Amino acid sequence: MAEAKATNITWHGGTVARADREKVLGQRGATIWLTGLSASGKSTVAVAAEAELVKRGRLAYVLDGDNVRHGLNKNLGFSPEDRTENIRRIGEVAKLFTDSGVIVFTSFISPYRADRDQVRELFEDGDFVEVFIDADVATCEERDPKGLYKKARAGEIPEFTGISAPYEAPEKPELVVPTKGVSVEESVALLVGYLEEKGFLASPQG
Ligand code: ADX
Repeated sequence: MAEAKATNITWHGGTVARADREKVLGQRGATIWLTGLSASGKSTVAVAAEAELVKRGRLAYVLDGDNVRHGLNKNLGFSPEDRTENIRRIGEVAKLFTDSGVIVFTSFISPYRADRDQVRELFEDGDFVEVFIDADVATCEERDPKGLYKKARAGEIPEFTGISAPYEAPEKPELVVPTKGVSVEESVALLVGYLEEKGFLASPQG
């Protein structure tokens, strides 16, 4: 739990409701939370799903671990505490995006179940969709697009997820998207198909 330090603050609401924004956009705001190992395919799937939604005239946006750690979260490392704070902040940012009416794909390892559950708690039912991007360590290590598994095995990266730090797979994710033995297109189609079927791509007002 992050300590609340600010005092004498009051929430100030606007006159435009989330539903008004969603009507403008013709969609439902939502957070699609991708979790999985490094190199499991989270960013690839997120970026392609974002492109597919925009092609369909929806407004989507990707929040990506490596990118966010260049700015907002540049003061955080990979200790359990820092990862928890990383995920907490992203959860809050994703909540703001969702309130703005945008469909946001988050692409963070988010290895701890408790951290993901804390984020889920921030949302109304149905606004948060946990998606397990499923590829095992051996597969991710074989891909190793950034050469990080190799470095981790050589002891050059401490606390590397899957090698020297844990990854807790979701127990009851809304969706499992396998990325092993299937094409990127198939993985993306599974995710976008789910969002369509559940009504995320249509405005709640019709
Ligand atoms: S999380 O665990 O806090 O959710 P996040 O998704 O933001 O991680 O960042 C993961 C990315 O940081 C990886 O894809 C990789 O490029 C890089 N990285 C650097 N060091 C580590 C590490 N020790 N463990 C995992 N990823 C790392």
